[in-house]
Amino acid sequence: MAMRISELAAFSGQEATIRGWLVSLRKGGKIRFLVVRDGSGTVQAVVRQEDAPTEVWERCADLSQEASLEVRGTVRLDQRAQGGVELAVRDLIVISDAADFPISPKEHGVDFLMDNRHLWLRSRRQAAILRIRSQIELFLQVELGRRGFVRVDSPILTPSACEGTTTLFETDYFEQKAYLSQSGQLYNEAAAAALGRVYCFGPTFRAEKSKTRRHLVEFWMLEPEIAFASLDDVMDLEEDLISALVRHLLKEAADDLVVLERSPQALLAAAQGGFARITYDQAVEVAVQAGQPVTWGEDFGSPQETAIAAAFDRPVFVHRYPTACKAFYMQPDPERPEVCLSVDLLAPEGYGEIAGGGQRIHDFALLRERLAQHNLPEDAYRWYLDLRQWGSQPHAGFGLGIERTLSWLCGLDHVRETIPFPRLLTRLYP
Ligand code: 4AD
Ligand code: MG
Repeated sequence: MAMRISELAAFSGQEATIRGWLVSLRKGGKIRFLVVRDGSGTVQAVVRQEDAPTEVWERCADLSQEASLEVRGTVRLDQRAQGGVELAVRDLIVISDAADFPISPKEHGVDFLMDNRHLWLRSRRQAAILRIRSQIELFLQVELGRRGFVRVDSPILTPSACEGTTTLFETDYFEQKAYLSQSGQLYNEAAAAALGRVYCFGPTFRAEKSKTRRHLVEFWMLEPEIAFASLDDVMDLEEDLISALVRHLLKEAADDLVVLERSPQALLAAAQGGFARITYDQAVEVAVQAGQPVTWGEDFGSPQETAIAAAFDRPVFVHRYPTACKAFYMQPDPERPEVCLSVDLLAPEGYGEIAGGGQRIHDFALLRERLAQHNLPEDAYRWYLDLRQWGSQPHAGFGLGIERTLSWLCGLDHVRETIPFPRLLTRLYP
């Protein structure tokens, strides 16, 4: 196998072969500079007419951006070069040409880039986002594992709704109707009664006719669920996980954050933990003060979330929303049943809600009543009611939206850049 570019620095003075794609070619009289990337990094390969075989020199006269190449040469340490090394080329093979690659270094419109998303992914910026996405997914799972959480995968095809019937994707399941999962939460609750602490992680779907910079039709959610747990336990876990994640990225993704021009300064407060915790009632006051009035009982829209978050320098938990504006499974506050033990986590800088969760109803009769109030067919939820019949306990959990979290951490304008192939209201291609 060829060596990866990121490993070259350890081979100073030695011969190495790399395989990758041409980022750019710059030509001087007797010298040619090829910038090559392979996913692990980029390196400048230098072809000198006096050192390289004639056919190699000639081959480098006209290479197209994104041509795939195999390059052999001597590794030279060079403080000024990216990655600290350059490659003095001895041999070069064009594996495949890439004449007229559609995406050039000039500016392109978003629609054009989205139509060419399969090629756009190769840009430095998109690759940086995808690397950070991968780091987030891995880090959070390792952290949950360390805390004794077991990953339990939940189904995608389901017979019932979790987050309201208006955003369900319906599909034909032989002679029956099925829906694409909006959340693995209900199945997590069954798994938590088996294993105590669980999480699921996978794609979720919302047939949402929203065309905003925060909404995807298909997005990925990490959902921990804890048996014998309360609303406060959920806030504590969210805060611990997210502040640890921010610290991790500031250290391990520093180079990619530079590519994205995301200032570490913007994330320092979140890295310290100590997230603000306010009630829905207090949040309404903050929104009103900021000139974004809300009618008590309604969920917040983007402008209100932005105004509420702007009052704090780090993420803010808003808890105890009106029961009427939240999902059927939310546990009412025993002290004040018109509000429920729910919590949304709002990110700073206008990124809005990145996680939602809370304490679930554990009482059989109350859950049955709620299903009826929400016009949900009891048959499809029979198994979910069973969980309240045998060994029920107060339990709680949350769902963290990976794309909104990534959007905030990377400082992006729109969630469409946070997922390799976004599914949006008006986009299913590529
Ligand atoms: O607030 P939501 O709808 O909560 C649930 O689905 C719960 N059942 C989760 C749980 O308690 N286990 O969604 C949770 C998060 C949101 O905070 C947001 O980050 C993300 O999922 N999300 C979306 N992300 C992108 N596009 C959409 N259309 C999203 N809808 C929700
Ligand atoms: Mg929500």
